Amino acid sequence: MFPMNPLAGILLLSLVATQALIAQDAATRGADALIPKPVSCINKTGVFVLDPGTPVAAPIAFREAGQLLAEQLRLSGQKKPGKKRGKAIVFEQASPQDHLQAEGYKLHITPTRITLTAQTLPGAMHAAFTLIQLQRLQPDLSKIPCAEITDYPRFRYRGMHLDVSRHFFPVSFIKKYIDLMAMYKYNTFHWHLTDGPGWRLEIKQYPLLNQVAAFRTHSDWKSWWKSDRRYSNAGTPNAYGGFYTQEEAREIVAYAARRGITVIPEIEMPGHSEEVLAVYPELSCSGQPYKNGEFCIGNDATVTFLQNVLSEVIDIFPSTYIHVGGDEAGTKAWAQCDKCQLRKKQEGLHTEHELQAYLIKRMEHFLKSRGRKLLGWDEILEGGLPPDATVMSWRGEKGGIEAARQGHDVVMTPGETYLDAYQSDPTTQPEAIGGFLPLQRVYNYEPIPAALNAEQAKHILGVQANLWTEYMPTTYQVEYMAYPRAIALAEVAWTQPDKRQFDDFHRRLQAHYLLLQRQAVNYYRPSTFLAVYAQPDYARQVNLVSFTSEQFQPEIRYTTDGSAPTAASSLYNSPFPVSGQTEIRAAIFKNGQPQGSLTAYTANYHKAIGKKVQYNQRWSDSYPAQQEATLTNGVRGSITYSDKQWLGYLKDFDVTIDMESLQPIASVAVQFMHQPGPGVFLPSYVEVQFSEDGVHFTPFPRMTHDVSSDNPKLLFKTFALDSRNVAARYIRVIAPNVMGGFMFVDEIVVY
Ligand code: ACM
Repeated sequence: MFPMNPLAGILLLSLVATQALIAQDAATRGADALIPKPVSCINKTGVFVLDPGTPVAAPIAFREAGQLLAEQLRLSGQKKPGKKRGKAIVFEQASPQDHLQAEGYKLHITPTRITLTAQTLPGAMHAAFTLIQLQRLQPDLSKIPCAEITDYPRFRYRGMHLDVSRHFFPVSFIKKYIDLMAMYKYNTFHWHLTDGPGWRLEIKQYPLLNQVAAFRTHSDWKSWWKSDRRYSNAGTPNAYGGFYTQEEAREIVAYAARRGITVIPEIEMPGHSEEVLAVYPELSCSGQPYKNGEFCIGNDATVTFLQNVLSEVIDIFPSTYIHVGGDEAGTKAWAQCDKCQLRKKQEGLHTEHELQAYLIKRMEHFLKSRGRKLLGWDEILEGGLPPDATVMSWRGEKGGIEAARQGHDVVMTPGETYLDAYQSDPTTQPEAIGGFLPLQRVYNYEPIPAALNAEQAKHILGVQANLWTEYMPTTYQVEYMAYPRAIALAEVAWTQPDKRQFDDFHRRLQAHYLLLQRQAVNYYRPSTFLAVYAQPDYARQVNLVSFTSEQFQPEIRYTTDGSAPTAASSLYNSPFPVSGQTEIRAAIFKNGQPQGSLTAYTANYHKAIGKKVQYNQRWSDSYPAQQEATLTNGVRGSITYSDKQWLGYLKDFDVTIDMESLQPIASVAVQFMHQPGPGVFLPSYVEVQFSEDGVHFTPFPRMTHDVSSDNPKLLFKTFALDSRNVAARYIRVIAPNVMGGFMFVDEIVVY
């Protein structure tokens, strides 16, 4: 043992401190910013400095990964690394004894050597993309921070879908879409190539699909949908559409494969086929163009057509899976079609669903004969699944659960993966299809339904983001809807559930905006809007007020006296109590300046909270919210009617609140939602009546509104009555439903 030298100890410490400083000076972003989060990741001090001459070496099995990495890191190419200790990037093939998981890899970055170890090419590819991502996160692209990473995916199917029928996007964009998928470790591109609004793949045997069915009269889907939905000849000045040639499709397949991504083509059947039946009407039940959306299943020509099309598709796409759609097919035409009815009889089928299943089974038989597997939307369950079909569960998780229980493989694509829904307050967003799916809801999605046991859960292959493009006319809008939500789902698909935590993801995401900007992605920028939430504390009879924002750890300042907040106002850090009616004003501040718009909110701990409500008309069981408690629980509805605070009515609204004692009532206010897209309308008027005994009621004048039912916007209307301290124990609120759609109401505020 040497005697302790206190100076030596100090020297050592200062050396460590200097190293840490060097790491900070380099302004590197550590590997703890990676998305999806790896299984294990340790930041190390120091950086590997890339220069164009840095050699990349890879064994034969990983040569493609090596070439791709060199290209992406802008290195001059693959070389043999020089002396053993020379600076280099080296792929190594693990031996089976290393026990790397399927698709697993190790990435070890030191100042002189980067080692990427994998057993399989997909694993080597993941290692490469982890390194590429780590580079793209760096302010200085030549400095890669040292780290030690071990990683493998949770799910083997990690998909993104793109609908190119409703709007058509160029090959260059498809490649960009695939580039981003690879960056976030998606491995499957589900290409929705055919649908009523346009056929998008060259089929040599059926030229009308490309000359006519690929073009329509309106560029914008919504205008076309509202019109009489006609197709157009290629070359017509106003024709909108196009298709991918087989050569282009092959180019996409190869481009994706090079990045470790499989392309699964979808050819829709038997529904969503208006475009085919307009040009080949003999395949429809009526035999006439523009009459049917479903193929005639009684007609052998249909089977011949579909098999011929699939033959060409199989030639282009090497994927094991071929997606045959199967969603949302109507059965009416089949029920009235002699050929379909004859088919049913001959095949001993009982229902039209079984007729659809008959077609899907024939397609599976055909695909199997070509060595492929069938994938379809969950409707293919309805008349009985083909023996080896895999199901995409999109109408919630029900279909997925059922299919897994039957022993079929499943890809989960429920509402939480529909990136066509609004991601922020719809009143601030470009028109979308509806719904509300903010980043955090995507992130928190758990693909394995709790209802499945461990054995059944093995059938959940993974998860997929769907981008239906009704409201995405441009590539910019596709990117806007996809990112950053697709990054959140990438982590759902890849990362082990015990490593997934939204706040941590949100922190890491901050580093990825630089990457997205560098790749010129038109991602959705987080808004500076502050959402206010007032949570009643019934024991203390106050509201606990909290704020949420899409910004990461914003500086929030607020007032409770109605004045505008300033840089000197109270700093928000945790929920705070307010009583009665309190005017909250708040804003996000940066460098002493408010950002975006001021938030104004009235928190009400009102007199009816906790009081019993008699429902003279019952709510709709589709939207029961908090049932009896909803209207007097003190909790306001948010911007979405699916938040379980909005009580839905298909009938008239009519309730009576019992205030428990006779008392002066100063005001009564009730709020309704208006959102015509999904059929949500205001009542024609609101009438409030008061009673001392619950038998004899005195009405106050009806309150009307001037919101047109045609107004397409989401908005909220408060009907507020100044009841001038009328003495009452019972308050009845009536609101007739004139539109026949839904009415949504959240709370009756009484003072
Ligand atoms: C679907 O969203 N129609 C599968």
